[in-house]
Amino acid sequence: MTNIDILLGLQWGDEGKGKVVDLLARDYDVITRFQGGPNAGHSIEFNGLKHVLHIIPSGIFHRDKINLIGNGVVLDPVIFKEEIRALETMGLTPADNLLVSDKAHLILPTHRLLDAAQETRKGASKIGSTLKGIGPAYTDKTGRAGLRVGDILTPSFKEKYDSLKNNHLKQLATLEFDVQSQLDTMEKEWLASLETLKTFNVVSAEYVLHDYFMSGKRVLAEGAQGTLLDVDFGSYPFVTSSNTIAAGTFTGLGVAPGRTGRVYGIVKAYCTRVGSGPFPTELHDDTGDLLREKGAEFGATTGRPRRCGWLDLVALKYAVMLNGVTDIVLTKADVLSGFDEIKVCDAYLMQGKPHTRMPFEQNVPITPRYRTFRGWTENITPCKEYSELPEALKEYISFIEQETCTRVSIVSVGPDRVETIKRV
Ligand code: GDP
Ligand code: IMO
Ligand code: MG
Repeated sequence: MTNIDILLGLQWGDEGKGKVVDLLARDYDVITRFQGGPNAGHSIEFNGLKHVLHIIPSGIFHRDKINLIGNGVVLDPVIFKEEIRALETMGLTPADNLLVSDKAHLILPTHRLLDAAQETRKGASKIGSTLKGIGPAYTDKTGRAGLRVGDILTPSFKEKYDSLKNNHLKQLATLEFDVQSQLDTMEKEWLASLETLKTFNVVSAEYVLHDYFMSGKRVLAEGAQGTLLDVDFGSYPFVTSSNTIAAGTFTGLGVAPGRTGRVYGIVKAYCTRVGSGPFPTELHDDTGDLLREKGAEFGATTGRPRRCGWLDLVALKYAVMLNGVTDIVLTKADVLSGFDEIKVCDAYLMQGKPHTRMPFEQNVPITPRYRTFRGWTENITPCKEYSELPEALKEYISFIEQETCTRVSIVSVGPDRVETIKRV
């Protein structure tokens, strides 16, 4: 029997998960998403082409790999259909190698409207959600009111849909949110997109995965968002609505915890965050702007500029601990080329005292305590071997390894699939 390897983000999302999954997919038979939904934007680049996936696992570009959308995912059929069409335009036939769990929950048009209404109501204290209906869809799931993919194949589906929609309309009226101008079009499109979803293999994914393990297939779970957006351990309430950490894999796929294999933690060489919420190392100066510009830090789902700052070891060590990370994958190291010096936060100074553990309340004055490293000027994107990397970068990597007690086993030096160094 085989185990499941897990790949996930150790920061606030957008660490480069899509790129690394696509790269590692070669070594697996099955790639599966276990949480999140179209709030995710996973970019993959190869042969001069850039592709962004939102719901479909990042193994889809490998025709011989099975891709599976697990029960922990919330699926918007409209976005699913758009993604399928885009892949078909590239000559792929996702219906051949994409399975969908019958227990994944559906995002309704009214979930999206509720997301917008709730954010508007919050005003300055808004979460900065992606407005994809994620929070309301997970609320209905845990509130035992949601609709699941398997429901679309039952005769009473329309009745269930109308009942949930009417419930949402009552909530929207309380929030004084005008919906009628948008709802008709959104609903028509949504109902039509269910026909595309119905042409896919809707399965009891937990059994399918169990059979894969029994037959020796290698399975990789692809996380979305990042550890610091986890609903339990992130900077609550400025989080997403699912468990983004490794533990989410088990409930999000129906896999037993004892099946855990390697856990790949993806870490950007600096930090970014989109949306609201605490970000102790955020830079509001030219250096922050330079990181955004050099790193092309704009959201893959919403296009919003990402907030940028130095690497945060308090947060990173917390993430390594929560996930049981066995391997760190360091991405975007190339973006740091050309900086005179590079800083890393190794403690939070709160009321003058250093803290190396994540505080309960992070929305309080925190001054990062920095360690400073020398920079390097070389363009590292063409490097193929670890030994070719500048000494200053290797020092930076050694420090991360020492502090996290975890090996950096892959270094990404550019967005393309081939711009990656695997350490032996
Ligand atoms: P994800 O959500 O974790 O999959 O990450 P995103 O795709 O939202 O954001 C990562 C961005 O960085 C994408 O535009 C990637 O193409 C790009 N990227 C990934 N790895 C690297 C890298 O090593 N260097 C550079 N310069 N860009 C990278
Ligand atoms: P990937 O998978 C970065 C952020 C939103 C917002 C908060 C809640 O590409 O790394 P939601 O729409 O989930 O209710 O928004 O979470 N967020 C992400 N930030 N990358 C993501 O996904 C994100 N998905 C959600 O900006 O702050
Ligand atoms: Mg992203």
